[in-house]
Amino acid sequence: MWNQGSTGISPGRFPGAPDEELWPARPFDFAAHFGRVAPLELEIGSGKARFLIAAARAAPEHDFLGVERSLSYYRLCRDRVARAGLRNVGVLRADGRLFIETAVAPGSLRALHVYFPDPWPKKKQKKRRLLDGVFLEIAASRLEEGGLFRIATDHPDYGRELDTLVETVPPLERLDETAHAAPPPTNYEIKYAREGRPIWRFLLRRRAGRP
Ligand SMILES: C[S@@+](CC[C@H](N)C(=O)[O-])C[C@H]1O[C@@H](n2cnc3c(N)ncnc32)[C@H](O)[C@@H]1O
Repeated sequence: MWNQGSTGISPGRFPGAPDEELWPARPFDFAAHFGRVAPLELEIGSGKARFLIAAARAAPEHDFLGVERSLSYYRLCRDRVARAGLRNVGVLRADGRLFIETAVAPGSLRALHVYFPDPWPKKKQKKRRLLDGVFLEIAASRLEEGGLFRIATDHPDYGRELDTLVETVPPLERLDETAHAAPPPTNYEIKYAREGRPIWRFLLRRRAGRP
């Protein structure tokens, strides 16, 4: 069973317990994990789990799963999630791109959250960015009709690129995010707001009646 808190195993640089291994390319059984069927929200790149825990606390009727690729951040998330003592939040060590493609069923997410994804600022690193056209298409297909996809980045080049990219994915419509309640902030968001950095925000909705 995952998310039972610190395992007591030494926090080394390599996975030391089964839950610390990267989730392989196979379906994830949300109902078995949470012990119920409820609207699902997925966050990719949970960092220190601030958003994940606050969002789960605010919406107990939804189930929240965070996926975090880095082992050290995964451990941090896992231990914080366990300490929060909520039944509707979990965290998994997984690569978000592989996870959404292979573990999440089409049309199954009420919401997807990606906040401050690694910007990979150098030109030759750009192909490592999580959010590209293929990812957006797959993400759109994993949302329920009317399901929401929220993104935030402080990186101007990433933000500008997304401005154009989100218009190229027909199943997603862009909403005015200022007209909707803001989600709980992440750690990066708090830090960047303090520094006064501009932030690009995207609120996308999966259109009804489209594959
Ligand atoms: C810049 S941090 C932002 C953390 C958090 N979302 C926040 O706003 O405070 C990016 C996080 O995404 C994680 N990450 C990067 N690529 C990922 C991937 N492909 N799958 C899952 N997590 C990823 C990193 O390990 C890191 O924790």
